Amino acid sequence: MERRIRVVIADDSEQTRENIAAIFNWEKDIEIVGQARNGMEAVQLVKEKKPDIILMDINMPEMDGIRATEEITEEGLEGSIIIMSIQGEREYIKKAMAAGARDYVVKPFGVKELVDAVRHVYDIDLTKKRKYNTVTAVEKIESKVISVFSTKGGVGKTTLVTNLAVSLANTTGKRVALLDFDLQFGDVAICLNLYVKNSITELIKDIGNIEQESSLVEEYLLTHYSGVKVLAAPLRPENAEYVTADHIKKLIDALRGRYDYILIDTSQGFHDTVITALDASDVIIYMSTLDLPSIKNTKNGLEVMKTLNYSDEKVKLVVNKANESYGIKYADFKSALNVDIWMVIPDDTASVTVSVNNGHPLVSHRKASHVAKRILKLSQFLAGQGAEKKGLLSAIL
Ligand SMILES: Nc1ncnc2c1ncn2[C@@H]1O[C@H](COP(=O)(O)OP(=O)(O)OP(=O)(O)O)[C@@H](O)[C@H]1O
Ligand SMILES: [Mg+2]
Repeated sequence: MERRIRVVIADDSEQTRENIAAIFNWEKDIEIVGQARNGMEAVQLVKEKKPDIILMDINMPEMDGIRATEEITEEGLEGSIIIMSIQGEREYIKKAMAAGARDYVVKPFGVKELVDAVRHVYDIDLTKKRKYNTVTAVEKIESKVISVFSTKGGVGKTTLVTNLAVSLANTTGKRVALLDFDLQFGDVAICLNLYVKNSITELIKDIGNIEQESSLVEEYLLTHYSGVKVLAAPLRPENAEYVTADHIKKLIDALRGRYDYILIDTSQGFHDTVITALDASDVIIYMSTLDLPSIKNTKNGLEVMKTLNYSDEKVKLVVNKANESYGIKYADFKSALNVDIWMVIPDDTASVTVSVNNGHPLVSHRKASHVAKRILKLSQFLAGQGAEKKGLLSAIL
């Protein structure tokens, strides 16, 4: 295919824009797709036209070229920026390059100098893009994000999410990542018997680079013997406060397309970091137990989820540690909350406790236990392998 370099010119001088346009008019492989009179217009045009190259003046009204360069870089917009400066703007050029510009030309520039700069930057960045695309084309995966959530602590979120991750990895052979967003007291790493070399605390310091190159995220993940990749929670509770909702969003974005299943453990309740994870999720497994406080909190929590516009399809209710002989029947639970129960996991303290204390997931070392069997069924539903029937009884039977 013939090369066609799409260019946006940003300069407040109409004369300059026209001169450049006239130059490119002679070049078959270069096409002007837009002209901006200031930085703001430039950013807008870049969003709309997705050019290959942006020729950016420094001094412009409303928003200068350096700020516009920063915005284009910060927002991760497509397009390589070439700065057009006048003599004596060395400091500004340095700033612009630090802000993400790829090259610069000094006015008044010659025709050849300008055209060469455009082609040179385009060729280099295209080669990079091609390389990157080949890597990601192989890896590009449609990710399913699954969060395990509850409005009451100790209902079994971590037990479920760790076993679900291992079960998905074992049964599907696909790529599974497990993120511990119980930021103060996360115990995913302990449950999976993993030595924490790096945690989310180290990762967020590198988030800017990860945003640019998502493969860097891998350096912060721990590897479980099942193949599941784990991002551990901070080792100390006081470090939780440094992790923001924005970090959570960027982190999930970096993992999207790299993992088939991105599983998330949460802390109880609606913190802004948790809501960010829930927003990004395709499925929310809402865990509850058959006791009055849990039912009351689950009812309130489900109402909050409605206000967050999460669909009934997205929110799946799982009752854990279930035993009807403790006084509350499944039917009572269902009518109190007016929702279907997606899955019931039986109460089995011995199996769950022994497996955690041995550091071996139930689904690989105690497969015969009822808890493991139900979790396996859940993972099959999530992987689209089991015929998932609607309604309480079908889930239990
Ligand atoms: N099906 C089950 N039967 C019996 N005990 C269970 C079951 N599932 C989990 N438990 C036990 O319940 C306790 C809490 O489990 P877990 O840590 O998984 O809950 P959590 O919701 O992650 O808690 P937290 O809110 O503290 O993060 C643990 O002692 C665990 O062994
Ligand atoms: Mg937990």
